Amino acid sequence: MTPTEQLQEEHQGITLMLKILEKVCVKMEAQERVDPNHLERIVDFFRVFADKCHHGKEEDLLFPEMEKAGIPREKGPIGVMFAEHTQGRAYVRAMGEAVTRNRKGEAGGREEFVENARNYISLLTQHIEKENNILFPMGDRVLSKEKQEKLVEGFEELERVKIGPGMHETFHQLLHQLQEIYLK
Ligand SMILES: [Fe+2]
Ligand SMILES: [Fe+2]
Repeated sequence: MTPTEQLQEEHQGITLMLKILEKVCVKMEAQERVDPNHLERIVDFFRVFADKCHHGKEEDLLFPEMEKAGIPREKGPIGVMFAEHTQGRAYVRAMGEAVTRNRKGEAGGREEFVENARNYISLLTQHIEKENNILFPMGDRVLSKEKQEKLVEGFEELERVKIGPGMHETFHQLLHQLQEIYLK
């Protein structure tokens, strides 16, 4: 698998979790009870799998290589991707805070969660589309086969260091489990 194929596969997992999150929002708006443990694990998935690991691979490895190959960061598409990661991080942080407030039974936690989740869903959906259709094909064009192989090695290393061995599997199991509960 090439580095951008690997990242696109991760996009599929992230997109599935965004669908689960949307369903969770619909339930919360209908005042249905949602297991707070599920909310915590969903936020954890976005914080660790999507941000730390997936965005980490893009920010620390793929995008810098694309920059070296001549694609400008400032005022260019790479700069936009970085800014969107930062914005997404703020939404995930706010979702996490809302879950804590909700657990403590404080008012507004529910609304705050749904609002930030919806913003995150729309941000990340269009972000992923841009990467799949514009950024990644650009990377494929400018990076040699050798550079791409190095990146795949770098991705493996980053995964081991940043999230630890076996975590990728754990997150896929979580996806599967929540899919059964919310999307059937
Ligand atoms: Fe990204
Ligand atoms: Fe991405």
